Amino acid sequence: MTGNAGLEIRGLRLWRERLDRAAQSALVEDLRRVAAAAPFYTPVTPGGRRMSVQMTSAGRLGWVTDHRGYRYEPRHPSGVAWPPIPPAVLTLWRQITGLARDPDCCLVNFYGAGARMGLHQDRDEGDFSFPVLSISLGDEALFRIGGVETPTPTESFWLRSGDVLLMAGVARLAWHGVDRVRHGSSALLPQGGRINLTCRVVATAVGG
Ligand code: SIN
Ligand code: MN
Repeated sequence: MTGNAGLEIRGLRLWRERLDRAAQSALVEDLRRVAAAAPFYTPVTPGGRRMSVQMTSAGRLGWVTDHRGYRYEPRHPSGVAWPPIPPAVLTLWRQITGLARDPDCCLVNFYGAGARMGLHQDRDEGDFSFPVLSISLGDEALFRIGGVETPTPTESFWLRSGDVLLMAGVARLAWHGVDRVRHGSSALLPQGGRINLTCRVVATAVGG
C-alpha cells in the first residue's frame, strides 16, 4: 500500500491499485457505454501506419490521428460527438489533481494481444502546466519512461489494473510508451486486453 502521495518515479506519481476491483468493474461498464456511442477504431499515424492500439475518447474533445496529423477534434471520425467523461473519472481527476478545471479529453486506448505504444511525448495540448492523469484497467503493461529533453535513458515498470499515474510538473513532458502487455494477466476484461485512460486539459478553443 502507498500513502496519499503515491510512489515517485522520475517525477511521475504512481498510486498502486488506487481503484479497487469494484471500482474497476464499474468503470469498465461506463466505458462500454462510451464505446457504444463512440466505437473503438484503429488510428493511422500521419505517416500512414496503422497503430496497434484501438482508440476512442470521451469529453468535449477527442485526440485523433490520421494523414492530417495529431490533434484534438470535437467529433469521433464517424461524425458523432464524443460522449461525456464518466463521472467516476472526473471524481478521480479532482481528487488526484486538486484542480477545479476538469479535463477536456479522456482518451481511451485498448491494447489487445500484441498491441504496444512507441515512445512519445503528450504535446498536442495548449497548456503543459495542466497534468495528464492515466488510469490502467485489465492486463498488465510494461510502461517505459524516458527523459524530458531526450527520450533516453529510459526505465520500465509494470502498470497493473487499478493503478493511477500522474504526469505533472517536470514529468509532464516526459517521453513514455508501452513496450508490451501481458495478455490474459488480468481477469477484469473477459476476453483479456488492457484499457488505458488518459485525461488531458486541452485548453485551446476549437471550431466545429
Ligand atoms: C498513452 O501514452 O497514451 C498511453 C499510456 C498507457 O497506455 O499507459
Ligand atoms: Mn501518451
